[in-house]
Amino acid sequence: MFRSNIPSSEITPKHVYLSRRDFMKAAGVVGAGALLAACAPNAATETAPSVLPDVPNTLEDITNYNNYYEFSTDKEAVAPLSKNFQTRPWDVEVSGLVNNPKTYAIEDLLKKFPQEERIYRLRCVEAWSMVIPWMGFSLAKLLTEVEPTSDAKFVRFEAVYRPEEMPGLKSPFYDWPYQEGLRLDEAMNDLTLLATGLYGNLLPNQSGAPLRLVVPWKYGFKSIKGIVKIALTDTQPKTLWSTASPNEYGFYSNVNPNVSHPRWSQSSERRIGDLARRPTLMFNGYEEQVAYLYDGMDLAKYY
Ligand code: MTE
Repeated sequence: MFRSNIPSSEITPKHVYLSRRDFMKAAGVVGAGALLAACAPNAATETAPSVLPDVPNTLEDITNYNNYYEFSTDKEAVAPLSKNFQTRPWDVEVSGLVNNPKTYAIEDLLKKFPQEERIYRLRCVEAWSMVIPWMGFSLAKLLTEVEPTSDAKFVRFEAVYRPEEMPGLKSPFYDWPYQEGLRLDEAMNDLTLLATGLYGNLLPNQSGAPLRLVVPWKYGFKSIKGIVKIALTDTQPKTLWSTASPNEYGFYSNVNPNVSHPRWSQSSERRIGDLARRPTLMFNGYEEQVAYLYDGMDLAKYY
């Protein structure tokens, strides 16, 4: 893994995380979200004391248990299989219903948009979760620069498709390339991150280098890795999972403990590294920041 050109002043050094971890352990009872200072300033005082503490997972955990089906469906095989994947040169095309379509080299994105630290929970639809210290910038900053037109209603994301380097692409079960989508107002929410790094370094390949989406209030599969295209559209984009199994995976896929997956409950989760399960929180604990996006919507229908 290479050190990034993210200015060191904008990266929280690893020892700071470690001392926070020690602090969390020493403090004993700290509400979920207390570490999520960038996005939930008042969480510590507002969270019920019964909620288990949120402690960032280790780099080891985060980078050796991955979903990246272009490489493998085996979570522990993704890291070794993606080791030699080439992430330079890398261009990201931003197009569709925008006034200023543009193709950015990844280096331009890293230079142009200041990289911030965001510690987010990632809740996988398979009912495990992690807490991950990302580096990146709000997608809204990039979208503002390309200026969506008044017809733009959705954002479509497309992942890299390189069968010669990605053995999982041989699988006939999926409609490759991996695609995802958000409504434009979801995409413009400040929590929605384009991640470029992890624990203060550039993203490792298994985590979606060099650019991935992170939408912390939605199930992990919305957080598409290896992005090469972002397009603004007026119709709801197709997504890989809702195409593969529409009654199991909807377009919205908001974390919701009250709406079960057809084959299992979503009411609790196992944090990787913990023994006990913990209750799953509405919108993964980001309700205050995002509930307004779904006012009046039946979330059992729009799952
Ligand atoms: N992005 C691509 N391109 N391909 C994938 O298979 N898997 C998704 C998501 N992004 C996936 C992807 C799923 S199911 C999850 S849970 C998260 O990535 C996992 O992210 P992590 O491995 O960094 O924890």
